[in-house]
Amino acid sequence: MNTPTATIDLAAYRRNLARLAERVAPAALMAVVKADAYGHGAVPVARAAVAAGVTWLGVLDIETGLELRQNGIPRDVALFTWLLGPNEDYTAAIDAELDFGVSTLGQLDAIARASVAGRARVHLKIDTGLHRNGASIEQWPALVAQALALSDRIELVGIWTHIAEASDDDDTVAIKRFRSALAIAERLGANVTVRHLAASAAAFGRADARFDLVRIGAFSFGISPGGGVTPSSLLLEPVMTLTAPVIAVRDGLATVGIGYGDGVPSSAAGVQVSLEGVRHRVVSVQLDQLTVDTGEAIVRTGETAILFGDGTDGEPTVQEWADKLGTIGEELVTRLSPRIHRRFLE
Ligand SMILES: Cc1ncc(COP(=O)(O)O)c(C=O)c1O
Repeated sequence: MNTPTATIDLAAYRRNLARLAERVAPAALMAVVKADAYGHGAVPVARAAVAAGVTWLGVLDIETGLELRQNGIPRDVALFTWLLGPNEDYTAAIDAELDFGVSTLGQLDAIARASVAGRARVHLKIDTGLHRNGASIEQWPALVAQALALSDRIELVGIWTHIAEASDDDDTVAIKRFRSALAIAERLGANVTVRHLAASAAAFGRADARFDLVRIGAFSFGISPGGGVTPSSLLLEPVMTLTAPVIAVRDGLATVGIGYGDGVPSSAAGVQVSLEGVRHRVVSVQLDQLTVDTGEAIVRTGETAILFGDGTDGEPTVQEWADKLGTIGEELVTRLSPRIHRRFLE
């Protein structure tokens, strides 16, 4: 393959989902496919998740939800949206039977107005300390009461929040706040069956964070949180392998056809890539190529460099890159440009 390529192993993705589903049971698993499935390709990844038996997909925005419905994701799979702007087309979204994560009375009213024919599926969000969005505890009773008052147009499906997963103590506080919000909603007469709070790390590590549903992105792609935790230590497999061709060889240096224009960080000098099973150091990253120090090794034009993969052939994993670059694996895979060809292994 002459172009830089991200090979997406959908079988590995399905295996990860199966392991995670088993781990979090009896809670259900929402596969988060936002940000173009973390750069892996939203439609094929969503289809693979459905094939693996997943009945919840986290899509972030209405546009992605509509795209997935148009691409055949069936209506018995819930598509959860939560980034709702001021000018959303809720009519189309309700027609497509999307689920809405709602933080404000304004959003609730806009959804209710659009929901003439049927009942829109709503999950109310309480802020438990992350301060991204979500109702404050002061706003919470009014939000719940309004959702209940609109019950001819709104089906109150869930209550949710998002937690930082930065420290166990902070998460414990957030879980406690979540429980308080649930108790308030119950006292007001809400009867929700889908309570959800955790993403990858808390879902994996804490039974008390799982409630009825967990929302998992990074771990499903075999991306671990770093700090010494590898995907294999979690029994997960990296799903993406990033490769690019050697396009020139000269004086112990190889030029590889992928650069910062394709999403490789310009700070990646010093990380390693693998050529014919041997690792070599990247010495510089340019717009559409990077230069690798191959020393005395015999390297030929047309060979394929593996930037990162699942590590089984000795190549770096995305986690290794992330640790070296002081970032997280998610950032490296989501920033890859559309020019990079996505190849799907079923
Ligand atoms: C609301 C919400 N839930 C779940 C996730 C999944 O997080 P992770 O990739 O850590 O599993 C995200 C992603 O940031 C998110 O925004």
